[in-house]
Amino acid sequence: MILIDGKKIAADIRAELAREIAAARNAGHRPPGLAVILVGDDPASQVYVRNKERACAEAGIRSFPYHLGADTRQEDLLRLIAEANASPDIDGILLQLPLPRGLDAQTCLLAIDPAKDVDGFHPVNVGRLALGLPGHVSCTPAGVLELLRRYDLPTSGKRAVVVGRSNIVGKPLTMLLSRPGTFGDATVTLCHSRTPDLAWQCRQADFLFLAMGRPRAITADMVSDGAVVVDIGINRTPEGLCGDADFDNVAPKTRAITPVPGGVGPMTIAMLLSNTVQAWRQATGA
Ligand SMILES: NC(=O)c1ccc[n+]([C@@H]2O[C@H](COP(=O)([O-])OP(=O)(O)OC[C@H]3O[C@@H](n4cnc5c(N)ncnc54)[C@H](OP(=O)(O)O)[C@@H]3O)[C@@H](O)[C@H]2O)c1
Repeated sequence: MILIDGKKIAADIRAELAREIAAARNAGHRPPGLAVILVGDDPASQVYVRNKERACAEAGIRSFPYHLGADTRQEDLLRLIAEANASPDIDGILLQLPLPRGLDAQTCLLAIDPAKDVDGFHPVNVGRLALGLPGHVSCTPAGVLELLRRYDLPTSGKRAVVVGRSNIVGKPLTMLLSRPGTFGDATVTLCHSRTPDLAWQCRQADFLFLAMGRPRAITADMVSDGAVVVDIGINRTPEGLCGDADFDNVAPKTRAITPVPGGVGPMTIAMLLSNTVQAWRQATGA
């Protein structure tokens, strides 16, 4: 059984990006820039934003922090996004969600220039993914695919089951796995809370992707021998963080599995940095 080490792969990616940026800076290019917009004082969001800003600094990406009060008005936030869209030093714009009550996340996300939408949430980028065109891909599913690539676990011709149909994880992951290519070309079933006999569906999977947010809901009897299990769930329990799989009993049956924590989680920030560097290369030709 292979224990997929997302922490190490994420560190490798961040080091690779840092080297690329340093080389481009030596050749005279400006640094990549990421606007990090945080509205309000949600403690979890503050931690996420701090981690993202620290990761940017380590890689050589300049972050532009916009930390706004919870009483910020929609028009002020939209004006700030317009400024970031127009700034020649900013390649990516990250709007930390959820927004405080009274602000409409969809309207704000729509206002971000798709070329700077490094979270891959803008309908233009979602549409590009659906059509198989290049564009920014949502960071968590992009990180899942990167783990499969780096562990050489091709999905072509395999049966994949994705449990969870959210716009940021399950749906884009389903589209990525359905694309032509070695790490696509899967026959994908997308399951959700109305799926009858989830256990049977999961047992059909050569590759099982879990994004439900239900601690240890997927038990060993729901997983076929030799399956690859990618556990995207992050659940807080009194005993600490755990995934959607009952890891201790599921892992021995698998060909490969991601632990929680230390599996998919660290990949999300690494892919955010990677999307920012991609936007910077497109903007500057670096
Ligand atoms: N690793 C990372 O960086 C990362 C990033 C994002 C999210 N996550 C984690 O991934 C998990 C999912 O997040 P999300 O934002 O995608 O979740 P979400 O928006 O809450 O969606 C959960 C999905 O799971 C489905 N579901 C829930 N219970 C189910 C059940 N018993 N059987 C079958 N399907 C069920 C829901 O079905 P319905 O649509 O029918 O309600 C829904 O589609 C969470 O634990 C989250 O913390 C991790």
